[in-house]
Amino acid sequence: MSEADIMTRIDWVRQSCRLLAGIADEFARTKPFAGLSMATGIHLEPKTAALLMTLKAGGAEIVATGNLNSTQPATVDYLRGQGIEVIGAQTRDAEEHGAFLDSVMSRKPALILDNGGDLFARYAQSPYAGLIGGTEETTSGRMRLEPMRQNIALPVLVINDSPIKQFAENRHAVGQSLFESYLRFTNRSTNGKRVTVFGYGACGRGTAACFRNAFSAVSVVDIDPVTTLEAHLDGFNTPQRADAIRSADVIITVTGHPAIVTVADMPLLKDGVILMNGGHFPQEIAVEAMRAHPSVTRVERYAEEAIETFVLDDGRRLHVLGAGHMANLAGPRPLGNTVESMDLGFALQARCLERVASRVLDKSACVVPVPKDIDAAVAAAYLDLHR
Ligand SMILES: NC(=O)c1ccc[n+]([C@@H]2O[C@H](COP(=O)([O-])OP(=O)(O)OC[C@H]3O[C@@H](n4cnc5c(N)ncnc54)[C@H](O)[C@@H]3O)[C@@H](O)[C@H]2O)c1
Repeated sequence: MSEADIMTRIDWVRQSCRLLAGIADEFARTKPFAGLSMATGIHLEPKTAALLMTLKAGGAEIVATGNLNSTQPATVDYLRGQGIEVIGAQTRDAEEHGAFLDSVMSRKPALILDNGGDLFARYAQSPYAGLIGGTEETTSGRMRLEPMRQNIALPVLVINDSPIKQFAENRHAVGQSLFESYLRFTNRSTNGKRVTVFGYGACGRGTAACFRNAFSAVSVVDIDPVTTLEAHLDGFNTPQRADAIRSADVIITVTGHPAIVTVADMPLLKDGVILMNGGHFPQEIAVEAMRAHPSVTRVERYAEEAIETFVLDDGRRLHVLGAGHMANLAGPRPLGNTVESMDLGFALQARCLERVASRVLDKSACVVPVPKDIDAAVAAAYLDLHR
């Protein structure tokens, strides 16, 4: 590329994913996926493009689809231009998305890279010969796949359960990214705002910390008293759930569970409250039920910024960001988590898929964490590049 060339965001991200660049060079020589088909069901955005290009360098014949809502058309065009088959488009329609997933699985891939368990859940329902195994990226996917172990009975390595993923992405990057998304969507300040974070797992911890560092008064609500105690000792307010809702200017859900803020909470919500979700599925805030609730007299749509306002019969206004989808991958110019955090997570992905493809694992490795030697190798490689 000459100095005068215009770089795209995908070029920038690919250059910034230094671990993946090194792995791609290695894979181009070692070809761990030569002759193997691979289905991927992960957000189609610039960072995953870097991952998919790395896997392609290793010889994988990829058929890719995205997750609900997060598919970015420019990334789809880029991947297609690079010879990767993409089945899918930007959609919030679960049925349409389901049809993309079905279509990808109809190819009976040899390897699966899953994000949320959509592809493996389909395999568990209709198993076929020839699947070697694969990876699952998220907490939500792990929870969904655990009860399906008997039906899957193949190696599935869960990237989320690597300590590296936990601290690099979930703890440090998700909080930064949700914080950035709040500013990006609303252009509102955080100073002095009362922010309630639902869920004090890895993602919630980072989210609470980022808003506190930006001078918000942060409350934490977690269903687990031990975790709530930790939040309390970390210096966060830990009021009762109803008080935490009543007092909040901003409510952020990041639990991985459905129905965290529901219509039953509507009487408690403060006028002008901003509701945003960081959890994987768009079910943490009951947006559709709220929109249809009889107390909603009017819905205002600030479409450009993906903000919806429900005006209640008592005059209160509730603002929902990105229709309750993961805010950091929704709305205007969604950037997702930092490049470095994704480079680490995707290096784990690439190494885990390489391990599964090598067929050294058996069904006892069905829905288990990343092998420790892979964690160590990826950590050492990152430190070599960055310190
Ligand atoms: N937005 C992103 O970029 C991104 C990135 C990674 C993970 N995620 C998603 O974020 C979610 C959380 O991930 P995590 O790793 O922090 O999970 P985690 O399991 O570590 O933490 C979830 C926390 O939520 C709490 N919780 C469960 N039900 C609750 C309820 N009803 N009320 C209050 N608290 C409740 C749990 O006790 C737990 O402490 C998942 O859906 C995950 O897939 C999002």
